[in-house]
Amino acid sequence: MIGQPFQIITLTMDGKPVGARYGETLLEVARENNIFIPTLCYFEGLSTLGACRLCLVEVKGWYKLAPACVTMVHEGMEVMTRSERLDRYRRLILELLYSERNHVCSVCIANGYCDLQSLAEKLGIDHVRIPYRYPKFLVDATHDRFVSDNNRCVLCQRCVRACGEIEGAHTLDIMRRGVFARVVSDLDQPWGDSTTCTRCGKCAQVCPTAAIMEKGRSFAEKLERRDLLPYLTTMREEERK
Ligand code: FES
Repeated sequence: MIGQPFQIITLTMDGKPVGARYGETLLEVARENNIFIPTLCYFEGLSTLGACRLCLVEVKGWYKLAPACVTMVHEGMEVMTRSERLDRYRRLILELLYSERNHVCSVCIANGYCDLQSLAEKLGIDHVRIPYRYPKFLVDATHDRFVSDNNRCVLCQRCVRACGEIEGAHTLDIMRRGVFARVVSDLDQPWGDSTTCTRCGKCAQVCPTAAIMEKGRSFAEKLERRDLLPYLTTMREEERK
């Protein structure tokens, strides 16, 4: 908070000493220090969820791996953001995501604009060792501006959080669990019948794949304004002061 004294914490990341403010997460500190940690469910401007587990890091003395987006800094922490074990887990998480739904990049409007695809490229994933499930979720194209295709969803819930936390509409939510979980509008009504949706499109802006897409775009044409949400969040905070 502006004008408030804050407590400085010192820790190491990948052997390098770094400073942090009390209450910061490991991910925030890593980003401030240009240290790459992969993320999928995290989105600046939205609450943190800790759902995808791609941001796992190792902390010395901790038996379990820690999700960097929801783990707060502590004095003297020794954090490793790269290791063989982490690479193995991150790769496995991505492979599980790819095998769980239908992600066919070559015919997708998000080709070239997809967070899942770019993470796979970054982490060197060129094949999936797990059998594909080939789910057959219904595609909801009843909305006049957007399409919801749960076959391409990674269940990061960015759309649900943007809809509730930023727009305040609470149209989108998650129904069912595990591999059967899917994004629904209102109480699983066709999106086009929704009386709560404001047609703002924030859900489409934050979707990491093409699970929610704007109509009228074709293959490899998904364009997003990723800076919009952090901007809106900052403006709201300024207004509240
Ligand atoms: S980014 Fe931390 S769990 Fe998804």
